[in-house]
Amino acid sequence: MDDLQTVRGWLEQAPRLCVLTGAGMSAESGVPTFRDALTGLWARHDPQQLATEAGFRSDPQLVWDWYGSRREGVARAEPNAGHRALAAWQAAHPERLTLVTQNVDDLHQRAGSTDVICLHGALFEDRWIDPCAREVRGEPACDPARAEPGRPPRCGECGNLVRPGVVWFGEALPGRALQAAEDAASDCELMLVVGTAGAVYPAAGLPALARQAGARVVVLNPQPSELDRGAHVVLRGTAAQLLPQLLG
Ligand code: OAD
Repeated sequence: MDDLQTVRGWLEQAPRLCVLTGAGMSAESGVPTFRDALTGLWARHDPQQLATEAGFRSDPQLVWDWYGSRREGVARAEPNAGHRALAAWQAAHPERLTLVTQNVDDLHQRAGSTDVICLHGALFEDRWIDPCAREVRGEPACDPARAEPGRPPRCGECGNLVRPGVVWFGEALPGRALQAAEDAASDCELMLVVGTAGAVYPAAGLPALARQAGARVVVLNPQPSELDRGAHVVLRGTAAQLLPQLLG
């Protein structure tokens, strides 16, 4: 039996499947990854400038415009066969799949996946760079959606700036999402790790958590990754090729 058949067998038997996706998941939709040596975003742009709070504060317009161009690129992209296979499997097997993504694009959701756990936030969300100073009964008085237009938009009352709702380097992950992801990793029988280099923690720690809790771990990636060593099986191929074969 080849590895693909072996994993299909595990999938049939696993009551609970957890899938962790990274930038490679969306590569075949035309969304660049981060660490590809030639086309990756961090090969061409400085993450300290574009993906940290300090970088935003030093040049808000540069960072806002860069996220604007990423928003435009993702808005033009379509979910690929891998995204669609995951959504179809979830619909056909209610309650069995928890999908955890590091991606800030919305391609899983547009393919039809539900209850996606987004560890690194969402590219199309806006939030304030600073806590709103004008609170009414503990709630922010100002809504980023009503900020005055600009690059970035700003609060007409206090000048607070809007930033994209993604997690930057040095920032904590959203607590509830991380907890839900750790619960899913600890409670599954099978974890598929799709299209991630495994370089950024705590997301990259989830496969080890699953394995320690007794799950089988399968990496799907056309290239070697940091997570190969901790996997029971490594399937060399792309998300759009392998996921329909596995889940179809
Ligand atoms: P990386 O860019 O680090 O890694 C992408 C991975 O996808 C690599 O292992 C590639 O080999 C693999 N890959 C490329 N094409 C693929 C395909 N068609 N199918 C499957 N795999 C493919 O992206 P991530 O691991 O997701 O964080 O990066 C993790 C985090 O680092 C990102 O969420 C981002 C980044 O800085 C934030 O923005 C907070």
